[in-house]
Amino acid sequence: MPLITTHDGSHSIYSEQYGVTYHSKFGAVTESAHVFIAAGLRYKAAVQRDIAILETGFGTGLNAFMTWLEAERRNLNVRYLGLEAYPVPEEEAHALNYPLGLGCPERSADFLALHQCEWAVPHPLSEHFVFEKRKHRIEEFEQPDTFDLIYFDAFAPQAQPELWTEEVFANMYRALKTEGALVTYCAQGHFKRTLKKVGFTVERLQGPPGKREMTRAFR
Ligand SMILES: C[S@@+](CC[C@H](N)C(=O)[O-])C[C@H]1O[C@@H](n2cnc3c(N)ncnc32)[C@H](O)[C@@H]1O
Repeated sequence: MPLITTHDGSHSIYSEQYGVTYHSKFGAVTESAHVFIAAGLRYKAAVQRDIAILETGFGTGLNAFMTWLEAERRNLNVRYLGLEAYPVPEEEAHALNYPLGLGCPERSADFLALHQCEWAVPHPLSEHFVFEKRKHRIEEFEQPDTFDLIYFDAFAPQAQPELWTEEVFANMYRALKTEGALVTYCAQGHFKRTLKKVGFTVERLQGPPGKREMTRAFR
């Protein structure tokens, strides 16, 4: 899995299997901060402190790590479930520069704990962040009425069309609690029509650098 450096200096990984990078080449941390933390977590945190999050897929752990840091900053109670079918090997996780890039090199052990911890068990990593990861396929995931927020972070529809189907988003819709929200970097027309078809109310937001738009959708 070749490591690349994105425009903001943070690392990403190139997936040889899918022929795409795990994050925007314009900035992995910048994209994560804009799409998932600002438009997702902070948006929800404005109205509630207890937030259950589903992430598809967990990948490098960047979204999970930034969520943990933000939960501590804002005194939130976050329960986090990350799904991942093809885990990043631990040696690769060691090479990622996220704690340094986020200005908290002293949290490197915490970042690695996300990769080292046992699968399919909830870990209370701090009083603000309970973390679980499951080796589970996104398209087979069903857990109704559980989550306040979904970080939909699969590879793009061109790379993985099987994850951007009506069936998958009908499951995502059901997995949300009423008024739950899904955020994603993707803003393609076909994708937004699929969201509407399964019942979501769709909002267009300004995208991170290099992308005109992103999407937030509500149950
Ligand atoms: C865009 S990357 C996610 C980046 C990640 N959120 C992060 O913060 O680094 C997409 C992830 O989905 C995983 N994935 C691909 N197909 C999957 C599937 N069918 N089920 C679960 N995870 C899958 C990939 O291995 C990859 O880690």
